[in-house]
Amino acid sequence: MILIKSPQEIEAMRRAGAVVGRFFEEVKPLIRPGTATWALEEFADRFIQRWGVKSAFKGYMGYPAHLCTSLNEEVVHGIPSKERIAREGDILSIDFGVALDGYYGDAAKTFAVGTVDPASLRLMEATERSLYAGIEAARPGNRLGDISEAVQSVVEGAGFSVVRDFVGHGIGRSMHEEPQVPNFGTRGTGPRLHPGMTLAIEPMVNAGGWAVKVLKDGWTVVTRDSGWSAHFEHTVAITENGFRILSLP
Ligand code: MF3
Ligand code: CO
Repeated sequence: MILIKSPQEIEAMRRAGAVVGRFFEEVKPLIRPGTATWALEEFADRFIQRWGVKSAFKGYMGYPAHLCTSLNEEVVHGIPSKERIAREGDILSIDFGVALDGYYGDAAKTFAVGTVDPASLRLMEATERSLYAGIEAARPGNRLGDISEAVQSVVEGAGFSVVRDFVGHGIGRSMHEEPQVPNFGTRGTGPRLHPGMTLAIEPMVNAGGWAVKVLKDGWTVVTRDSGWSAHFEHTVAITENGFRILSLP
């Protein structure tokens, strides 16, 4: 069942999402050559205390950190570490979520570390563009498959591939609710979208093939072909006249 949120609940999700959006603004200047992903985790820990919010990820299925920090060929769920240093030319995907007053916000963004090569820039740009194409399709009367196809067609049109093994999700009083939101699919299929539905749309896009595997740490997802990967995510509400992005500062 896809839960419909009241306008008051969407306001609460907007407050949680605004904190997440603020985090991405504040973390950006810390992402420089030489930054250990652990330093970003420490910043997230202080940020969470400062805002009085609950970490969405730490403790979720035993996940050990507030952030997912995924470098280069890491797709998602990279664990912050003192040993993982961002180097000039790397791309770093950061995923962060919080709960505030019982409602969740979840977002992700891939950052360039210093100056990156044009192919990586194109990968990041296409992934972000595919997220916005998906968001544009998140309107009442449309179907879930309209979002999925919109994302997929931007990604594949740019010559990249969509990860199949991980998907977006409904979000609200839990971080993960129904429905799953795949980044691949067919328009005109799937459940009808209605005002009050709230979705985390999150394309994970590989420069090479879509196949991924999980490392022995049980979390870090990497591409099978070692090509680089990007990830952008927003929490979005379907409204009477379209959509509203909830995870902006
Ligand atoms: N955005 C991711 C998700 O929707 C973040 C979860 S990471 C986890 O699943 F570690 F908490 F699982
Ligand atoms: Co998510």
